[in-house]
Amino acid sequence: MDKKVSELLNDQINKEFYSAYLYLDMANFYASKGLDGFANWYEIQAKEEQDHAMLFYQYMHNNSEAVTLDAIAKPDKVYTELIDPLKAALEHEKYVTSLINAIYAAAQAANDFRTVQFLDWFVKEQGEEEKNSADLITKMELFGSDPKGLYMLNSELGGRTYSAPSLTL
Ligand code: FEO
Repeated sequence: MDKKVSELLNDQINKEFYSAYLYLDMANFYASKGLDGFANWYEIQAKEEQDHAMLFYQYMHNNSEAVTLDAIAKPDKVYTELIDPLKAALEHEKYVTSLINAIYAAAQAANDFRTVQFLDWFVKEQGEEEKNSADLITKMELFGSDPKGLYMLNSELGGRTYSAPSLTL
């Protein structure tokens, strides 16, 4: 495998685990505010990010590439308003999209079509992640300032259940 592609794929394992940690911190914030539904939403989001990390890990091993695990950064965002994590999540997903795009571009430049095909799932997934994050901000802006609206939204987010990623390797 091309060295740069391999390095970027390896880095992405760390970035996805960081995403999991960031979302767990958001769940932690909402749990401390008594919003168990929001906390549930982000706990499940954290699990999904661990799945993403493991897909990159497995892909590397399937291609006999060495994996190096690095320290996971501390989630250092500070949240004040209830909408703050929702906005931070959208910004973060846009950043992750830029990372996936950079690996994609490197794989294309190296004629590594297997990696391009592997990344196709993530390109689509990032589209969904950004849309889900943006939709949540819209809902919060519409209903979040009303106690009953917030209660309903919290109940809705509490109904989210975990499902394993549709991509298998
Ligand atoms: Fe692994 Fe939320 O992107």
